[in-house]
Amino acid sequence: MQRPGWTADRLPRLDGTRVVVTGASNGVGLETARALAGAGAHVLLAVRDPALGRRRAAEIGGSCEVVELDLADLASVRACAEAITDPIDVLVNNAGVYPLRREDTADGFELALGTNVLGPYALTALLLPRITDRVVNVASNSHKAATIDRADPHLRRRWSGPRAYAGSKLALLAWTLDLDRRLRESGSPVRALAAEPGWAASNISNKPGLGAVHRIAQRVALTIGNDLPTAARSTLFAVAEPMPGGAYVGFDGVGTFRGRVALIGRSAEASDPRVGAWFTAFAARETGVTVAPPRPG
Ligand SMILES: NC(=O)c1ccc[n+]([C@@H]2O[C@H](COP(=O)([O-])OP(=O)(O)OC[C@H]3O[C@@H](n4cnc5c(N)ncnc54)[C@H](OP(=O)(O)O)[C@@H]3O)[C@@H](O)[C@H]2O)c1
Repeated sequence: MQRPGWTADRLPRLDGTRVVVTGASNGVGLETARALAGAGAHVLLAVRDPALGRRRAAEIGGSCEVVELDLADLASVRACAEAITDPIDVLVNNAGVYPLRREDTADGFELALGTNVLGPYALTALLLPRITDRVVNVASNSHKAATIDRADPHLRRRWSGPRAYAGSKLALLAWTLDLDRRLRESGSPVRALAAEPGWAASNISNKPGLGAVHRIAQRVALTIGNDLPTAARSTLFAVAEPMPGGAYVGFDGVGTFRGRVALIGRSAEASDPRVGAWFTAFAARETGVTVAPPRPG
């Protein structure tokens, strides 16, 4: 039998560490928050449904607080950033959506692009002056099938769910590298990293009217992918282990669906500094928020 590699019981004690986890109300984010709180971290559950967030916080125990965040609404992103006044060590941009229909966010962004990367970009940029250690962006290896259409980033001309989701994750990965490069150039000690949960039996396929599809997706995920505590390992590793900026943590099995926690590769487009720089400029224009890396010391 293959040894499991890194597991959450290897987390160091995190007492005194403050971590924001977006989308901590379900799925991989909930398991990430649970493990971090179990290791002694103070976890801010940034969730769009505060009542559900409070139930999750009570269930997790430890030191948790709930902050409201709807990534599909920049006003909510700003309010969330304003509500977090104390320094935080780690921001985990975990929340994500896989849309079935073409929908716009409150600000007119395509839903996957808005929720999975423009919202996290704005939240990160607004919180950056208060982040002391690292930003972990939860990406997806589906990005390898994507390419960014710079002439139509919101896919107004040609939309499909897979195209929107994979494209948003490609943008997220390219931006992670660009953010990390900017942080290093400014002399900041903060690093930007990415993680991938493998194929996780989460709530992401749980859509109204698609109960049977969701049940099948869960069964397949549990057969060839990860249960939720296992899926959270890559994020936890990226949060807590000594890591170089820009690293992408996932699993080493077939298709990266499961396996041992390992550094994994990204597509050529996701690694291209011109794509990252383009995305940062685009995101600043779309959101009106500019990244100002914290000064060292
Ligand atoms: N599942 C996989 O196989 C897989 C593979 C690769 C990458 N990922 C990524 O892993 C991350 C976690 O997803 P998951 O699989 O754990 O899915 P999930 O169970 O559906 O959890 C997603 C979380 O994001 C939250 N969320 C969705 N839209 C939001 C919004 N507008 N504002 C704030 N929060 C929002 C959800 O809130 P509610 O609880 O209110 O719905 C939920 O807490 C995502 O970034 C996803 O793309 C997943």
